Amino acid sequence: MSKVSIFLCFIVLSFGIVLAHSSKNGLGIYEIKKGDFSVKVTNYGARVVSVVLPDKYGKLADVVLGFDTVKEYMNDTSHFGAIVGRVANRIAGAKFTLNGKVYKLDANENTSMLHGGKNGFSQVAWKVKKHVKYGRSPYITLTYHSVDGEEGFPGDVLASVTYALLEPYKLSVTMKAKALNKATPVNLAQHSYWNLGGHTSGNILSDELQIFASHITPVDQKLIPTGKFASVKNTPYDFLKPRVINGPIKQLPNDSRGFDINYVVDGHKGQKMKPIAMVYNKKSGRVMKLSSNAPGVQLYTGNYVIDVKGKGGFIYKPHAALCLETQGFPDAVNHPNFPSQIVYPGKDYEHGMLFVFSIKK
Ligand SMILES: *[C@@H]1O[C@H](CO)[C@@H](O)[C@H](O)[C@H]1NC(C)=O
Ligand SMILES: *[C@@H]1O[C@H](CO)[C@@H](O)[C@H](O)[C@H]1NC(C)=O
Ligand SMILES: *[C@@H]1O[C@H](CO)[C@@H](O)[C@H](O)[C@H]1NC(C)=O
Repeated sequence: MSKVSIFLCFIVLSFGIVLAHSSKNGLGIYEIKKGDFSVKVTNYGARVVSVVLPDKYGKLADVVLGFDTVKEYMNDTSHFGAIVGRVANRIAGAKFTLNGKVYKLDANENTSMLHGGKNGFSQVAWKVKKHVKYGRSPYITLTYHSVDGEEGFPGDVLASVTYALLEPYKLSVTMKAKALNKATPVNLAQHSYWNLGGHTSGNILSDELQIFASHITPVDQKLIPTGKFASVKNTPYDFLKPRVINGPIKQLPNDSRGFDINYVVDGHKGQKMKPIAMVYNKKSGRVMKLSSNAPGVQLYTGNYVIDVKGKGGFIYKPHAALCLETQGFPDAVNHPNFPSQIVYPGKDYEHGMLFVFSIKK
């Protein structure tokens, strides 16, 4: 590296750190940018606010649902773009037993806990630790200290997330958590609502979807897993080969408004990154490939996004986007046959996601 480029790196780094510092105590929106690829993040819930990238004609669009201001996120019930925790997804009866002790949690969806409780990790202020807006690998790291007893969970947890642009057009998300003093369940999920046609383009029903999973964890009326594994073969849940969503979504039982189900990722092994899913939006040509080291992925087709006023005043309707929330299995704390989500002091949790965007003409 030349002296000049070292100096430039220094400037870029200092600039990033200064930006992070200046708004340490407040809520803000932070950008990371590489060429025409831009991601904006707020420290309120460590949420992705926007992801902007070109289509097959080079035209830019924002491909996630969200709001224009941080204030609007405070009213959000859809977890747009958030890091969801301490335990994402549902916990039956809002309780679990660990080491002989029963923990009663905040029940925020009828009798269940959903997405970590009323506030969880998505309705709280995270700290901006580092922010490098430009350069070779722009990134932002946010942290959140969840205290012992928060939403009913045991022990202090220090969580962090790093959003990084590796190269056009790759976005990596690294979620980490440390149990500081007690064993506790941890299951973080990044909850962006993707519409590769652009957030104002209507619904995702004509998108092609592929999910590398041969089994789901079927659920009861309350959307709690029965504990069984079911093959996707000959069911609307089969996305092993790419399928246009509109076909299978219509074959779901009449009382469901769309997909909201956990898939068991094929070939999951330890911390190794595995292909999870692919989404292709024909009109724009945008393709998104997702890989992760998580054992499961929740497919959610925005069934309860009902006339939500989003960015630019645009009204989001059901199926305006889809979520691919890599994570552990729902209600794992109450299912000994599911991979454990218990994190112990000294044994850290790490969950990676890699989104690779490309164009198919
Ligand atoms: C939040 O919701 C309340 C009640 O519906 C509404 O009055 C208020 O304007 C909303 N705030 C924002 C920032 O959207
Ligand atoms: C929660 O309760 C309401 C009202 O009884 C019901 O309509 C809804 O389906 C329930 N949700 C879940 C996930 O069980
Ligand atoms: C769904 O509705 C269709 C048409 O009304 C009906 O034929 C079918 O039996 C229903 N399926 C279920 C699972 O209720």
